[in-house]
Amino acid sequence: MKFRAIEWIGEANGFLRIIDQTLLPSQVAYLDLRTVEEVWEAIRSLRVRGAPAIGVAAAFGAVLGVQGVDSGAIALGSRLARVCDYLGTSRPTAVNLFYALDRMQGRFQRWIEETQNVEELRQRLWREAVTIWDEDRAMCRAIAENGLEIVPEGGGVLTHCNAGALATSEWGTALAPLYRAHQLVRKFTVYADETRPLLQGARLTAWELMQAGIDVVLICDNMAATVLREGRIQLVIVGADRIAANGDTANKIGTYGLALLAHAHGVPFYVAAPSSTFDLSLNTGEEIPIEQRGENEVTHLFGRSLAPAGVRVFNPAFDVTPHRLITGIVTERGMIRPVDRCTIRAHFQPRLGS
Ligand code: MRU
Repeated sequence: MKFRAIEWIGEANGFLRIIDQTLLPSQVAYLDLRTVEEVWEAIRSLRVRGAPAIGVAAAFGAVLGVQGVDSGAIALGSRLARVCDYLGTSRPTAVNLFYALDRMQGRFQRWIEETQNVEELRQRLWREAVTIWDEDRAMCRAIAENGLEIVPEGGGVLTHCNAGALATSEWGTALAPLYRAHQLVRKFTVYADETRPLLQGARLTAWELMQAGIDVVLICDNMAATVLREGRIQLVIVGADRIAANGDTANKIGTYGLALLAHAHGVPFYVAAPSSTFDLSLNTGEEIPIEQRGENEVTHLFGRSLAPAGVRVFNPAFDVTPHRLITGIVTERGMIRPVDRCTIRAHFQPRLGS
């Protein structure tokens, strides 16, 4: 990739560098985050966004939050717990955030049994965050390979929101197989839904695919039915923010409608997501918390009002697609197809010899 959406600079005392995604595509501006409050704000305001990138940012946010604490291992542990609780309030839906925070705290609980050395504990926390970041890159590569078989040669691919390099540490999830197919000189066209209200498809997906030289056509969300009916689309692929044990999938608002449209037109509908996006503690998608965002995102665009002052607004950031509408889920471990409670359980069962 020509850019890195998220990157740690330096060692345990370093800082987090992100592309400020609210400024794309008109400006590619990097933002250095040096405090946990800055990381919280960057996640909440979508300067860094996309489920895997939010997880990586949260892990490094925890590292930033314990920098400079040297009043003992117990105090370090209390501070880490407070910092993780605080970061957990930034956005509720993407489970990767909680996966990363729980992992940082879980590891710390084990290490403190082994050492009370604050410097050593801080080093280990930093190395754990780097491991989460490294795993995220490896995950992108594995999803790219595992999803390659579904990319149509000479066909059209419809995607929603942004589940690409800007949403992860490298190639993305839904876009990863497309980057790999492009490397292998496969020809296809990507239709990117603009994705109201915050236009992640127009501002981010169209931008990053163009950077890579992939043929991309931007459409308004309400054109999806037409491009499907006209036979332009052979694959719909999207990312995910949280997947319940039965395969019901939360992703950017509008995904459910797209899944219904794909079903009505007999076009396969795939989700691409890492293991860290599955929340097997939730029985069905009904239990997934859906983030409600501010009215301004609907009533205004780039500071300009689009609606009468005082109009009532409904602005859920995500919706849930029932598993029966999902043809398959590509993960870093392989393919789940068909998607149901049993196939998901089997996918995550420890493998013999591993
Ligand atoms: O509100 P956002 O921009 O964070 O929403 C992002 C999405 O819905 C993505 O599709 C999802 O997080 C997967 S990113 C690989």
